[in-house]
Amino acid sequence: MKRGAAVLAALAGTIILGACVLSGERAADPPSPEYVLTYAENQPEDYPTTQGAHLFARLVYERTGGKVEILVNAGGTLGEEQSTIAQMQFGGIDFARVSLGSLAEFIPQLNVLQMPYLYTGADHMWEVLEGPVGDTFLHTLEGSGLVALSWYDAGARNFYSASKPIETLEDVEGMRIRVQDSVLMKAMVEALGASAVPLEYSQVYSALETGTIDAAENNWPSYDSMRHYEVAPYYTIDEHTRVPEMQIMAEATWQRLSPEYQAVILECARESALYERKLWEEQSRRSEERLRQAGCQVIELSPEEKARFREAMMSVYDQYCGGYMDIIQQIMETGEGREP
Ligand code: GCU
Repeated sequence: MKRGAAVLAALAGTIILGACVLSGERAADPPSPEYVLTYAENQPEDYPTTQGAHLFARLVYERTGGKVEILVNAGGTLGEEQSTIAQMQFGGIDFARVSLGSLAEFIPQLNVLQMPYLYTGADHMWEVLEGPVGDTFLHTLEGSGLVALSWYDAGARNFYSASKPIETLEDVEGMRIRVQDSVLMKAMVEALGASAVPLEYSQVYSALETGTIDAAENNWPSYDSMRHYEVAPYYTIDEHTRVPEMQIMAEATWQRLSPEYQAVILECARESALYERKLWEEQSRRSEERLRQAGCQVIELSPEEKARFREAMMSVYDQYCGGYMDIIQQIMETGEGREP
């Protein structure tokens, strides 16, 4: 731009700004929110579930014209999962994304959806969660002080160990394996002949490093982003569980909002869930590729060995799903004919 033209442009800008100030208008003033709400997430910023949370917050802000602002606190800064859930029951935290491993400690029926070897794969699980069975389980939160908003993906969980690879059931026997603080997860690992060590997610790295535990279990993105591979380089793909995750909200907060804002929140949660699922697929693939290249030893259980793991874990079905065998049956039938 020539100098004269630039001066004119600057002058025009000043005149417009001056006119706004004189008329009392402030051009880019953001609307002041009616509600500023907190969202707890125990994964790091760049993790798919956190990215889903940010999209959720942005959509809610836009669709309420800036009246509902949600502040996402990632990296577990608001506390570990179970303490977050407990605080939410009293409205201390407004939203969270949590693993069913933690949530089922408050609502035991949810254990049904994370039983070992229940699903043939991701498609099977999503068909169940998006159908009438999934809806029934969203309603199990009623009366708990929490409101279910949407399902998030967390892939399949596998075992990983610090000092020797897990190739057979015998390798697991006697190992001290970290599990989520969940009766089901403890029982599952004990059914394999190992001793279960319930620990918070944030403590797993140092427990592996110091030898307090021999092994842990989680999906590829968690193994990667929490850098557990540095201290437990043997990753055994057995896909013993698919533990879905949920976006939840404190009922006390839900009740304070108008039906209009409630509807926006539900709609945005569901949209963010679709986005998270897409990111999840990409991140799982990226983490697996990266860690294979970085030298992690990846063990694929032989079909015979996998059958032995599955067989060993079946005892927990009687213990934790006694009253739900019809639903388990229904879930299994949905998966029939699908390739594992
Ligand atoms: C997954 C899940 C977390 C959970 C963790 C765990 O990474 O996304 O929410 O805390 O498993 O094993 O504790």
